[in-house]
Amino acid sequence: MRLKDKAAIVTGAGAGIGAAVMELFAREGARILAVDRDGSRVREVAARARALALEADVSDEASVTAMVDRAREAFGRIDILVNNAGYGIRGSVVTTAAADWDALMAVNLKGVFLCSKHAIPVMSGGGGGVIVNTASNVANVGLADRAAYVASKGGVAALTRAMALDHAGENIRVNAVAPGVTWSSYFDSMLETHPDPAGFVAALNARSPMNRVAQPVEIANAILWLASDESSFATGSILTVDGGMTAW
Ligand SMILES: NC(=O)c1ccc[n+]([C@@H]2O[C@H](COP(=O)([O-])OP(=O)(O)OC[C@H]3O[C@@H](n4cnc5c(N)ncnc54)[C@H](O)[C@@H]3O)[C@@H](O)[C@H]2O)c1
Repeated sequence: MRLKDKAAIVTGAGAGIGAAVMELFAREGARILAVDRDGSRVREVAARARALALEADVSDEASVTAMVDRAREAFGRIDILVNNAGYGIRGSVVTTAAADWDALMAVNLKGVFLCSKHAIPVMSGGGGGVIVNTASNVANVGLADRAAYVASKGGVAALTRAMALDHAGENIRVNAVAPGVTWSSYFDSMLETHPDPAGFVAALNARSPMNRVAQPVEIANAILWLASDESSFATGSILTVDGGMTAW
């Protein structure tokens, strides 16, 4: 029980990495508020892990303050915040519409800011806590045709380091995980309509020297380590978990 009785908020918990984090945290004894903008999906997965579910949009400040209030009401404290909600879009700076850039930044980067902004005072009041952000290995290297996404994840890595410095004195550690390609609901939906599903999977696998993509639980295990006391001397760290994709 590596998180026994810890109170945790997990955003983007309705699918993929966030759902795997929620299941792992529940197994390790945490009390969890599972948050997603897709209410029906998060209620379904949260029920399996006996977590509380909340429909909320991390890009909306009123929604985020309701999320923090709900956690405080249910648990009386917040020990762990996993800022995981996010999504990607294709496009260079030329082909990305300004509205799409703003919408993505509002979730991937401003969402981390808002959730941290409102959770940190509660953590601090309880004696400290841990924040784990889901960045991406594209925070370390470029990726073609994903300008907004790459910029947002670079921002998440930079914000992770800035928050680590600002809040170390309040006993709050802030780290990020930088996953490589991970099998998510997005790939599931792409497979259904792809003209060459096998070729699509082979191309994804080929991006890692291990010739496969990650399963969500492999990223969730890294997040669990960063959220637990086992990583007690880690703060401001970006932990890359990408099968060696950016090792060269
Ligand atoms: N899958 C990958 O290859 C990969 C690689 C690196 C990083 N990541 C990052 O991992 C995180 C999780 O992605 P995933 O692959 O599990 O994707 P996913 O689409 O399976 O899950 C993301 C969840 O976040 C929710 N969400 C999106 N916007 C939200 C918002 N505004 N408020 C609340 N919830 C919201 C979605 O409804 C969804 O349930 C994201 O930040 C993503 O950028 C994914």
